[in-house]
Amino acid sequence: METFQTLLTRELSRALAASGLPAAGEVVPATDARFGDYQTNAALVLAKQRGENPRSLAQKIIPHLAVGEWCEPPTIAGAGFINFTLKPAAVAAQTARLLQDERLGVPLAETPHRIVIDFGSPNVAKPMHIGHIRSTVLGDALARIAQFLGHDVIRDNHIGDWGTQFGMVIYGWKNLLDRAALVRDPIGELVRIYKTAHDLTKSDSAVRDACRNELVRLQAGDEENLHIWNECVALSLQEFEAAYRILDIHYDIQRGESFYNDRLPAVVDRLLKSGLAEISEGAVCVFFRDIPELAERPCIVRKSDGGFNYATTDVATIDYRIRDLGADTVWVVTGAPQLLHFRQIFEIARREGYTADFRHITHGSILGEDRKLMKTRSGDNVPLREVLDEAVVRARKIVEQKNPDLDEAEKNAIAQTIGLAAVKYADLSQYRMTDYIFSWDRMLSFQGNTAPYLQNAYVRIRSIFRKAGEEFSAPNELTLAEPAELNLAKRLTQFAETVPQVLNDFRPNILTNYLFELANAFHAFYEACPVLKSTEPARATRLALCELTARVLQRGLDLLGIKVPEKM
Ligand code: ARG
Repeated sequence: METFQTLLTRELSRALAASGLPAAGEVVPATDARFGDYQTNAALVLAKQRGENPRSLAQKIIPHLAVGEWCEPPTIAGAGFINFTLKPAAVAAQTARLLQDERLGVPLAETPHRIVIDFGSPNVAKPMHIGHIRSTVLGDALARIAQFLGHDVIRDNHIGDWGTQFGMVIYGWKNLLDRAALVRDPIGELVRIYKTAHDLTKSDSAVRDACRNELVRLQAGDEENLHIWNECVALSLQEFEAAYRILDIHYDIQRGESFYNDRLPAVVDRLLKSGLAEISEGAVCVFFRDIPELAERPCIVRKSDGGFNYATTDVATIDYRIRDLGADTVWVVTGAPQLLHFRQIFEIARREGYTADFRHITHGSILGEDRKLMKTRSGDNVPLREVLDEAVVRARKIVEQKNPDLDEAEKNAIAQTIGLAAVKYADLSQYRMTDYIFSWDRMLSFQGNTAPYLQNAYVRIRSIFRKAGEEFSAPNELTLAEPAELNLAKRLTQFAETVPQVLNDFRPNILTNYLFELANAFHAFYEACPVLKSTEPARATRLALCELTARVLQRGLDLLGIKVPEKM
């Protein structure tokens, strides 16, 4: 089935051709509902190109628009917009079709791509902290949506399991390790030895040398150091996996930085041979002299001490993703500080002849109430596990207040669902580049653009059906008599138009905004229109609107990695 937007856009193209005009513009949802449901600026665009009057051009186009099946006669507004208002019968028919469609009208992508999406990607021997929420949750949502649209998605966790920090970790392991603490709290102890060693290197040049030495030995394949490294990686992975279980995050592959180790020398040789890289002050660098912003910023792919770095690994990572995994699209989700790095890496890939679509999807930071980067009182990053645990504890108190009669196990399960949803949704409902303030009260509120508000709308609908005590069966026909019914039904038909849009600029907040407006439309409908107490044919239509709203809320939230409870 096709969306109204698709149908109207196609009809517009046909009408333009029939009026002897070139293709221009498309039909988009109206910016102001008073003027209708959809609009196009085609006449404005063409008038400008041709030096004609836009309103009279619009008048010329309108007679060719054969949209009577779906719309009232199109009107002209403002400088020359053409507006479309849907007919209630057309909305009713579309809504009835949605009830029969598993995909709720969402079309599959015309050209499916093989997309490698690199997100989360935490570092070994460092704890996952609150900052990892953004890349993890954003990447997961994008992966879910891409998959739903029919793309072949490979989720890759590019774990930072190699690099200079291991010199310090291994030094710490050999000199500072508290075995009992390691058993009690492995990550805590790993972080402690890493930090202590790190601090020592600042004041003590002997420790600095010792750490460098441990790193060199590790890279040269020293058995003892490799063994320690292996153990650290395994312990960190356990911690990551525990977080992923709680967050319901899944990866298809985990190719950490170490996976690329033995490919690095060849990468540098190749870049040198092709002339893309050159030796400068002992280091191997790629210069971008023809790109003004990058002219002063070469990318080092082999340091002057002969060591490879983060950039070398990422060049090798591109080879692997394109050649071995067969990807035609690569998305990397990280914080904004890596903008320059990926600008360089993707530029190198293009110069090497890769034609894949490379996208660096960046995000802003999470701030504390003081508008600074969120930290614990002692100035450390806030551990992710603590945040997730606290979310559930806080949600549990709310469940206790709202629904004290549920049994304990049920309350716990609901608290888990609400708490994690609140954290994820608070993140996804922000434009990804915005820094936002982490606020428990706001994210757990039952009012406003929050997960609990949407979950509550879903739960309310489920309770209507429990009260009715009947299985839902979709009516063949709907009658949209009340404005609140019509408004809700129109919103429901827009789900299919909203989901694909998220991927245009990787903005899940387009979907959260839509779901919030849908829940608002549902609440307005619920206030205005009794459901179970109404008489036929209104009753069947209203039950159908309830059911479809629940399905869209559930599916929409699922695409964001958020679950719905049946009660709360
Ligand atoms: N481990 C990195 C970090 O924590 C993120 C890795 C992103 N992916 C990549 N291919 N470099 O900043």
